Amino acid sequence: MGKGKVVLAFSGGLDTSICVPLLKEQYGYDEVITVAVDVGQPESDIEKATEKGRMIADRHYTIDIKEKFVNDVIFPSIKANGSYEGYPMGTALARPLIAEEIVKIARTEGAATVAHGCTGKGNDQLRFDFIFRCAGMEIIAPMREMNLTREWEIEYAREHNVPVSVVREKPYSIDENCWSRSIEGGILENPATHPPEDIYAWTVSPREAPDVPEEVRIDFERGVPVALDGERLTGYALIQRLNLIAGRNGIGRNDMIEDRILGIKAREIYEHPAATVLLAAHRDLEHLVLSRQELAFKHIVDDKWSELGYMGLVHEPLFAALSAFIDTTQERVTGSVDLVLYKGSVVVAGRSSVSGLYSDDLVSFDSTSLDQNFAVGFSTYFGLQARLHKNLEK
Ligand code: ARG
Repeated sequence: MGKGKVVLAFSGGLDTSICVPLLKEQYGYDEVITVAVDVGQPESDIEKATEKGRMIADRHYTIDIKEKFVNDVIFPSIKANGSYEGYPMGTALARPLIAEEIVKIARTEGAATVAHGCTGKGNDQLRFDFIFRCAGMEIIAPMREMNLTREWEIEYAREHNVPVSVVREKPYSIDENCWSRSIEGGILENPATHPPEDIYAWTVSPREAPDVPEEVRIDFERGVPVALDGERLTGYALIQRLNLIAGRNGIGRNDMIEDRILGIKAREIYEHPAATVLLAAHRDLEHLVLSRQELAFKHIVDDKWSELGYMGLVHEPLFAALSAFIDTTQERVTGSVDLVLYKGSVVVAGRSSVSGLYSDDLVSFDSTSLDQNFAVGFSTYFGLQARLHKNLEK
């Protein structure tokens, strides 16, 4: 008598594929149920995972949460200008949602154990484990527990009739959702090595981008994008279309040294064309609409929100409190932003909002409705203590 059922978070890659026979042979489970969660990976990846899961597991589920991912996670991260060490977060945002789907299947299947293919070196193990532990699940992570080599895995796959799709496997570890694509591992692990052009899939090199600038208009309602060039779209469709437009203009590449939660520094490369444009547009609109006090304080709140988001601590009570603050500020973040995309750069060209705090009458060189002599009184007291201090030094 074995240990019953285990539900495995399944991508269809080599690691999670060999987990299926491993969970039976090494861990003693009777039934392995695979779950692939669609957060906007390439359709062919999802199809491959579905096909493979059906072939090698006892039961397979593919769950499409693309719109939910956009509405429940990406939109809040736009409101929060969500970024970590300077790049728009992507993987970090998707993990908790994927883990929740695994938990749901485990509950319907009556399984007390879940498994994932994360190693013991990265962030994803922590993000998954956190959600699984919140749900009281037992966790198995064969890649972290068994110290396997690539060669051993390929051999083991062959012996167990697990198809190894790519010849000698892809040389990189890639994680993708509709908001961001991350590439790491292989030759990129030497941070001095220049990335080969063929690692990129969503963006052209800025030097290959068209010589003519392309303009887009984004309409926001309450902090979230609702239309592209005047056409109202669902969040997922808008992001997909903008990924194509910004990607063909070479926008949204990052090559950086990132501090992981464990403290390990890693060389990470990202592509996130739509995210780069939407975050630039959103930040600009906030500067039109929010007060100076709100902007300064929200900057701190956004940073903290992003730090918790990066760690995947979405059930931390502070996360909900920060989100509530952010939502309140976003009630007025409605308006349009025009942007020019050109050879890897995105520049805001114009913005407008009915909630703007901008007054051309106040700021204009040409208007006389504000008596400038009033400023003399203000200026009399301005920097008073600093002036007293400066005079002491004489
Ligand atoms: N460093 C990023 C993060 O922790 C991305 C990791 C993605 N994983 C991968 N296998 N490429 O959010």
